Amino acid sequence: MIVLGVESSCDETGLALYDTQRGLLAHALYSQVAMHEQYGGVVPELASRDHIRRAIPLLQQVLAESGIARNDIDAIAYTQGPGLAGALLVGASIACGLGLALDKPMLGVHHLEGHLLSPLLASDPPTFPFVALLVSGGHTQLMRVDGVGQYALLGETLDDAAGEAFDKSAKLLGLGYPGGPAISRMAEFGDPTAYQLPRPMLHSKNLDFSFSGLKTAVLTLVKNHTNICDQDKANIARAFVDALVEVLVAKCLAALKQTGLKRLVIAGGVGANQQLRSALNAAAEKRRFRVYYPELEFCTDNGAMIAFAGAMRLQIKPEAAQRDYAFNV
Ligand code: KG4
Ligand code: ZN
Repeated sequence: MIVLGVESSCDETGLALYDTQRGLLAHALYSQVAMHEQYGGVVPELASRDHIRRAIPLLQQVLAESGIARNDIDAIAYTQGPGLAGALLVGASIACGLGLALDKPMLGVHHLEGHLLSPLLASDPPTFPFVALLVSGGHTQLMRVDGVGQYALLGETLDDAAGEAFDKSAKLLGLGYPGGPAISRMAEFGDPTAYQLPRPMLHSKNLDFSFSGLKTAVLTLVKNHTNICDQDKANIARAFVDALVEVLVAKCLAALKQTGLKRLVIAGGVGANQQLRSALNAAAEKRRFRVYYPELEFCTDNGAMIAFAGAMRLQIKPEAAQRDYAFNV
């Protein structure tokens, strides 16, 4: 079965073709980051309009790269939500329009399920069951995953998501958008002993998170400097990253202990963070568990994860597909 995946929940237009026998055939992505950068964040109206511009050329690109004809597509999966309503509507309309024109079934996919299953696209994928840490711009969740569609929430953020904390703190430091990669790069030059920031909910005895206080702590440090220089910024960035990474790693260890599982999967944009990866790898070696990451290009939003999640869903339950244009975003 060949599934076309369409992702358009935020500021990335992603299309991909996944074959349940041959694997990923092609994927193409257009990031709108340069367009939104000047506004310091995503402008929803601009995002929707750009998805309209990019989607069809990207579709043509994946068809050309994979060498398959439109009619060889067996089903079309699109991101149903969560995300920006207008942006989602563009992807859903294109997917459903194609489905109706080609007379192929369509399937709405939960964006987080796409992220959650994205490590399974790697060359050495984890087997079920595993613990998953989902760290994106909008969500921070720990989950027990027993199979496709079998997810149990173990804990989540009570306020800001990890990616949101990265983005907001980067903005406070004047590092632009998107903040995650920028603050992470800056942190490399920071002195780890310069500042100590709080580790929110580190000892909460549950698997929940809270990151809004960390952002406020960054704000306080920034305000304490009348003339902030690059080294100050690097030191604050370092303190922020160290605090956030320590909490994420500690909660992952607690989730593994609570479930008795030995496989940890990291998904979502913050999963691309090198400091987080190094800390998790060190913990994995020490505590004898295995940690799996998606390929770097599949950490952030992409069409491959939607094509893959859609294909997995349809394999288990073909009747889940829709034949008409009816969706909720
Ligand atoms: O998963 P994603 O692409 O979109 C959502 O579904 O939210 O995640 C985007 C988030 C942003 O907050 C971005 O700053 C963060 O992931 N991010 C990073 C890195 N790359 C992306 N955060 C820290 N370090 C990175 N290298
Ligand atoms: Zn995402």
